[in-house]
Parts: sequence; structure tokens; C-alpha cells
Amino acid sequence: MRIDVYFTPTGLSPGDVSGQGVVVIDVLRATTTVITALANGAKAVIPAASSEEAVRLASNLEKDGVLLAGERKSLKIEGFALGNSPREMTPEVVAGKTIVLTTTNGTPALVAAQGGDPVLVGAPANFKALAARARAALIERGVLVIVCSGRERQFALEDGYTAGRLVKAVKTGLRKLELNDAAAAALALTAAYDGWADAFEGTTAARQLVEANLGEDVAFAAKQDRFGVVPQYAERRIT
Ligand code: MLT
Repeated sequence: MRIDVYFTPTGLSPGDVSGQGVVVIDVLRATTTVITALANGAKAVIPAASSEEAVRLASNLEKDGVLLAGERKSLKIEGFALGNSPREMTPEVVAGKTIVLTTTNGTPALVAAQGGDPVLVGAPANFKALAARARAALIERGVLVIVCSGRERQFALEDGYTAGRLVKAVKTGLRKLELNDAAAAALALTAAYDGWADAFEGTTAARQLVEANLGEDVAFAAKQDRFGVVPQYAERRIT
């Protein structure tokens, strides 16, 4: 059995994920937002790699049932109903709706992970349930691929730390488990911080959110096990 971590989706080819259990992580904020939306009753989230694609995908859906959401530089895209804050995804706003979401790093990573089976959406917000599903996928498939969204094709600490916590949780009690170098590094990173908030607070993504007056999203994302849902991405929809 093997766990492979990718610190960014750059270099991830369809062959790396095809038929493997995959977890996609973008803690600040796309995967936290997707988990929150679905836990609060959204029908589905459709990730789009660009705002043009989001508008096109939304135009094929029934107008009343769809919400366009997304950010650029953390701020809501002009003309869209929602940004990318998990705190916007309240039951009142999202219940029964299909959300077409485009974000800088998170939704491109999800799109790159297509072909995995299953593709699971993860963050601290659903950590316990995620670890159980990821472990089951590893045991069933023999390989687990953890894809961090990173930040503009670079390593992002909040995603790398979360990948490490996931490796640690999934591997407990499993023997003969191989880790690629990134998985070993992510695991080592878990010893350097005193929990989620400590790992996330000083990151570049967190600083950008604070500057945009969205600092509360960092605290929201750092709270473990808010929800028991593990969204799954298949046939271009996350449900
Ligand atoms: C992303 O996908 O890059 C993000 O989630 C960024 C953000 O929402 O601030």
C-alpha cells in the first residue's frame, strides 16, 4: 500500500489519479467552503476552472436553482452571487441550490483530480469522517493520492500540514505502507505546529484573508469536525 502526496496539482497527470482513491485539500478556503455548502443542504457543487467556464456551466442549469460563487484574490467575483467564504454558505442561502464555484487554486485542483475513484473533498471541517473514508479507499485500492491545491503553483503550508495530519490518521495501524517523499515531509510537518490554528495563522493565504477583512474564515477553517459529510466528486459534480 502507498500514500502519495502532491504539494500542488502541477505535474499531476491523469495517470497518477486514474482509478485511485484521491483526496483534494484547499483548506483556505475552497474545500472548506464546498464541505460547508453541502453540509448545509446544497444539492451539488460544480467546480469550474475559470470564471468564464462557471458562467457557461451555470447558463446550462435552471436559473432559480443555481448560484454562481467564486473569488479572485480572495474577493467575490463581480456579478457573482457569492464569494468563496464558508461563512456565506448558510442553510438559508444554499439549501436545495446547485453552486457553480470557481476559485484561484482549489477548483483547478479538483478539476485536475478528475478520474480518481473516489475523489474526496477534505479539510479539518470534516477531518474525522474524511480520514475514515480515505483509509477505506486506501485499503480497497492500495494507493491513496492526496492532492494539495497549493498557492499559485507553490507549496501552501495549510494544505501541506493538513495532508500530513491525514497521512498520520490514515496510516495508524497499517503495516507495509510506502510514502512518497512529499508524504514523508508532510508527516514530519505535523510535529512542528501545535494544532490547526497554529499551523494556519501565519500562512500567506491567511495573511491575504486578514488583509481582505476575511480573517474569520481562517478560524472557521481551523475548527475540526464541524461536519460529518465527505463530499465526493464524480461526473463533474460534487455531492
Ligand atoms: C483558492 O482556491 O485559491 C482559494 O480557496 C483562495 C481563497 O478563497 O481565498
